[in-house]
Amino acid sequence: MPPRNTLDQSGRPDAAEPVTECAYRCAVVRHVQQDVEFSDAVLARALRSLKHWTEGRNCLIVTTPTVNRLYREVIVGAVSESAEILVLDCDESRKDLAQVERICSHASSVPINRGDLLVGIGGGVCTDITAVAAAWIRRGIDHVRVPTTLVGQVDAGIGYKCAINFRGYKSYLGSFHGPRHVLIAPKFLQSLSPKQLREGFAEIVKIAIVCDPELFDFVEQYAETLVRTGFRSPQSQGTEIVWRAATRMLEELEDNPFEDRGFGRPVDLGHTFSPLLESVSGYRLSHGEAVAIDMALTMAISTTLGLTESIFEDRVLALLTALGLPIYCPLLSPELCDDALQQAARHRGGRAHLVLPTKIGATRFLESAEDLDRTVLAIAINRLAERIDATTGEQLDVSESPAPADPR
Ligand SMILES: NC(=O)c1ccc[n+]([C@@H]2O[C@H](COP(=O)([O-])OP(=O)(O)OC[C@H]3O[C@@H](n4cnc5c(N)ncnc54)[C@H](O)[C@@H]3O)[C@@H](O)[C@H]2O)c1
Ligand SMILES: [Zn+2]
Repeated sequence: MPPRNTLDQSGRPDAAEPVTECAYRCAVVRHVQQDVEFSDAVLARALRSLKHWTEGRNCLIVTTPTVNRLYREVIVGAVSESAEILVLDCDESRKDLAQVERICSHASSVPINRGDLLVGIGGGVCTDITAVAAAWIRRGIDHVRVPTTLVGQVDAGIGYKCAINFRGYKSYLGSFHGPRHVLIAPKFLQSLSPKQLREGFAEIVKIAIVCDPELFDFVEQYAETLVRTGFRSPQSQGTEIVWRAATRMLEELEDNPFEDRGFGRPVDLGHTFSPLLESVSGYRLSHGEAVAIDMALTMAISTTLGLTESIFEDRVLALLTALGLPIYCPLLSPELCDDALQQAARHRGGRAHLVLPTKIGATRFLESAEDLDRTVLAIAINRLAERIDATTGEQLDVSESPAPADPR
């Protein structure tokens, strides 16, 4: 007869069972340490600590074609001589198992084993794929992240999570496998396009709304100029914004790093409707754009439900618009939002946990998808559509986008 678990759900021995049967509970605590280093120096200097991390063990650097073209020399100069570089041609639509397999296959030929290292140098797509590979190789090896986009430096590159897309499901496969070390060097941001900088600011606006009124003021004051000047000016305010947004994000994550102490996370603001929007647009909507639309819709829902004043909604929408971020797209419909809420609930342990801001620095959760009827969604979507009509009349044209294979 196979052995039975004789502990009931509360952990007490099941009284109905004879005491001669055995029960054993294994409780293991894992210590996780992650250092995030910030340097606004020129890149050759800012990347100096990579030598320490890559020397004395086998090391595979993973980067993407653009970063390789722009920064190969500085990367080669910063890492140990024996480190190999793999240039992975990947983007959001190819953030998949095939790319993880490419890294693993290259890693096995280096060879990369326990004690060795992967380093992801690039945007969130590159660091996510690298981290997933690091989580799987030999059941988990160290990796270092060098995020080179604004999204990466304040969000994707610094957290514990990593994921890839699978069969139309955004971030369906992944792990909580944080980097051993992160290196944030804002000088990388100077080669980003205005569009890429705006996308990063969407994540910064998110973190500012959730927990930092001063950061929100700062972004209102300087973000447009930083986008216009390619993050060159005003330099010290740009640096301050990146470091402040990154540390606020880290503080928020530290409370519940493995999301096992509840699924309601304020930093999920802007990340409930956006995954489905991204995938049904065939990834023509970038992550940052989808997050901006999601935040705008969430603000409109908050106002419609009377949870906040319309003056706060106006302020957020005005900032997103001033940054050149979309606040509406024709794909938005109550049905899509309903689907997105159901998907979020599946992802967040059975409940939607929609984050609704009430003022800067304060949020509430709408726990269940059923608490948000389609009339409220329709009113909120209309608020945004009317605002577009009343201002520029412009909206993102993604209506011709092909539907993904499986947009659930
Ligand atoms: N793991 C997480 O916790 C987390 C959090 C947020 C976002 N993400 C993920 O991050 C991804 C978005 O990341 P992203 O916005 O960085 O996009 P991305 O990784 O697609 O990068 C965008 C483009 O910028 C190029 N690029 C990178 N650095 C550059 C530089 N310095 N100069 C010029 N071009 C450069 C890249 O080659 C790429 O073509 C999404 O897949 C999202 O799901 C993950
Ligand atoms: Zn995001």
